[in-house]
Amino acid sequence: MEKEKMTDKSRWHRTHYCGSLRSGQAGQDVVLCGWVHRQRDMGNLVFVDLRDREGIVQIVVRSDTPALLDEAKKLKSEYVLGVEGRVQKREAKSVNPEMPTGEVEIEATALKVFSTSKVPPFLIVDPPQVSEELRFKYRYLDLRRPAMQRKIRLRHEAALRVRNFLSQNGFFEIETPFLINSTPEGARDFLVPSRIYKGKFYALPQSPQIFKQTLMISGFDRYFQIVRCFRDEDFRADRQPEFTQIDIEMSFIERADLFDVVERMMAALFELIGEKLSPPFLRLSYQEAMDKYGSDKPDLRIPLEISDLTEIAPGLGSEMIRNVLSSGGVVKAMRVPSAAALSRSQLDKLNDKARSIGAKGLIWIKKQDGFKSSLKLADGEFDLIWKSLQAGEGDLALVLADQKETALKALGEIRRDWPQDLPKDKRTLKFVWVTDFPLFEWSGEEGRLVSMHHPFTSPLDEDLALLDKDPAKVRAKAYDLVLNGVEVGGGSIRIHDMKLQQKIFDLLGLTPKETGAKFGYFLEALTYGAPPHGGIAFGFDRLVRILAGEESIREVIAFPKTTSALCLFTNSPSEVSERQLDELGLALKKPKE
Ligand code: AMO
Repeated sequence: MEKEKMTDKSRWHRTHYCGSLRSGQAGQDVVLCGWVHRQRDMGNLVFVDLRDREGIVQIVVRSDTPALLDEAKKLKSEYVLGVEGRVQKREAKSVNPEMPTGEVEIEATALKVFSTSKVPPFLIVDPPQVSEELRFKYRYLDLRRPAMQRKIRLRHEAALRVRNFLSQNGFFEIETPFLINSTPEGARDFLVPSRIYKGKFYALPQSPQIFKQTLMISGFDRYFQIVRCFRDEDFRADRQPEFTQIDIEMSFIERADLFDVVERMMAALFELIGEKLSPPFLRLSYQEAMDKYGSDKPDLRIPLEISDLTEIAPGLGSEMIRNVLSSGGVVKAMRVPSAAALSRSQLDKLNDKARSIGAKGLIWIKKQDGFKSSLKLADGEFDLIWKSLQAGEGDLALVLADQKETALKALGEIRRDWPQDLPKDKRTLKFVWVTDFPLFEWSGEEGRLVSMHHPFTSPLDEDLALLDKDPAKVRAKAYDLVLNGVEVGGGSIRIHDMKLQQKIFDLLGLTPKETGAKFGYFLEALTYGAPPHGGIAFGFDRLVRILAGEESIREVIAFPKTTSALCLFTNSPSEVSERQLDELGLALKKPKE
């Protein structure tokens, strides 16, 4: 019995992956295992496309093996099949240049059905032909598509590259806990009730921020972790409630040291898709980015820049502009080369967009056989604007007279969504470091200053004196790495002085009691010899999405949530039993009517 089992096992022991076979292996006997991608019954001949992780190969079953032919005729899509056979070169006329295995086929000598399959709810083909909902409900089938297999493999290879690179550069991967207290990263926490300590809760980490800084205090010097983070926030295409970070922290460094490591890590990562990056990356201060591009995550593939016309504006005979200037406003403009042919309705749409952002209205000026504009000005005044923008015949200028923030934001969004001029090649990679962010921003909702990044970010040395006088003006040793308009990472040089850290909590409106309760343990750790340190974290899903040339991070996550935070495969979140609630000492409130 034992012997038979062994024989059986060794007979169907796979020798090759389907997708790996090439004409060089012609004449070899092979055993393949995979899924029936397609079966074609030609009467006296059956073709089976067999699919596994590495690709698809054609199996042929001929009439000179009648019993086998009968078996092959019964095969259906997605049956799990073992094939014993010989690799053969296809005749020239049947070579399929579309398939990497297209020069060969496998002449089957035996078949074994390991599993049958119900008719799948959709075809396992690229590109998918069904809604995302159906794909996610049957994610295990969707993941069988060659394109999904490639993306999940790319994700694995990307993680491996990062691990190898960081390890070779002296970083240790250290795990940090998931059941912790709240970490302030600006989103809501996912809470986990404690059974043992009823009425108390763990929070899942929004990031390992405090732990990685503590590891620096513990002397580990260079830490990294490819780590899951949890944020209960509103969803957008590039966000998930649980996502993965490449989290990094280093001691005794300046910003430049960190930039250097990161740029080399990115070069190693993008080599995966054959891209050769050339560090150092461009750097822009937050202020420069806002002034030039109206965004702190500018997409530098778009060749449009914002200019300031505030200086020449008093010379323009427009009452509207005079009013804006006298109320402390500015005049900002964006030259769009060769766009004078834009239609009235296209310009109206841009105006609608500016208004939806809160601007009073967008002025357009075009030069095409003379000036045309939505604002009445004299020709000399148009000339003045054209000179200032270095514009020419056939160009369009979009002008906003408004409060500075509104004008920049509106032009920034128009720029970001500009449909023309974007290079066709999605793979053009434009990296930029955005630095010196404001330390705080005003939260209208909370009626207080909040940290723009997080409260552990160090202020710029030259702005320290402003902390007492004008905290909103203080800039931070914070930086984001932006790639093609996407914030792929963010970090900072940290505060390692307990008194300064305490002061930041004060400025954020926390009472000493609140600070003590929430962060007392960390403030204490800072008093036992904290080295100067800094770090960064990257959105790994976002990076892999870009590596894969995809639009959504859901495409590079094996089991993603929908945009409404549901897992359609397992139907989570779900209700729990009364017993579980009792054990946790919890009772549900009646939902509000
Ligand atoms: P931050 O909050 O900027 O910084 O996060 C770092 C990077 O993580 C990615 N990211 C996300 N990706 C997918 N879904 C989300 N919900 C999501 N939220 C963030 C972004 C972002 O740039 N502790 C700090 C880092 C540090 O200071 O070292 C932090 O977490 O790409």
